[in-house]
Amino acid sequence: MNNILVVYYSLEGNTKFIAEILKEVLWADLLELKPENEINSRGIMKYLWGGRQVYMRVKPALLPFTLNPFDYETLFIGTPVWAWTFAPPLWTFFSQVKLKGKNIGLFCTSDGSRGKTLENMISSLEGNHFLGKEEFVSVLTNKEKNKLKAIAWVEKLLLSKINT
Ligand SMILES: Cc1cc2nc3c(=O)[nH]c(=O)nc-3n(C[C@H](O)[C@H](O)[C@H](O)COP(=O)(O)O)c2cc1C
Repeated sequence: MNNILVVYYSLEGNTKFIAEILKEVLWADLLELKPENEINSRGIMKYLWGGRQVYMRVKPALLPFTLNPFDYETLFIGTPVWAWTFAPPLWTFFSQVKLKGKNIGLFCTSDGSRGKTLENMISSLEGNHFLGKEEFVSVLTNKEKNKLKAIAWVEKLLLSKINT
């Protein structure tokens, strides 16, 4: 079994795009967080529905995980930015899976305004060692640029790990 897991939620494919690059570069396993009731990603309603979930601190029920996060030493965790923080399925994940003593890399995708997303993720993951954090902006409209950024980020993290 590989000992790196990439965990992510993605409504519209941007975070999924980055997660799949990390999977390839790191030879990692991939765990997608899927809500039991997903919204229709088209149209303006997603902002109202998603924003409401963030403000109400809703923890949407997730479909059963296909892999066990506790089996991995290193995890990369990715989210879209919703209302300047991480998306609600991550709340569910953090409350269900109490990770401690893991090596963790964090990433988010946004339209350019990430607020405290990555800092809030760090607060929810106390007791772990953070390898690094990165934001990717407008991923699907700048695929090549973001792909290169993801590869460069991971290479930098791996090199610094080897040198410590
Ligand atoms: C409910 C909702 C709230 C959002 N809030 C923000 C925000 O605060 N800042 C931002 O830059 N982008 C925001 N976005 C845009 C997404 O973060 C961005 O498009 C992201 O890359 C989508 O990732 P995904 O395709 O993996 O779902 C929001 C999108 C939704 C649906």
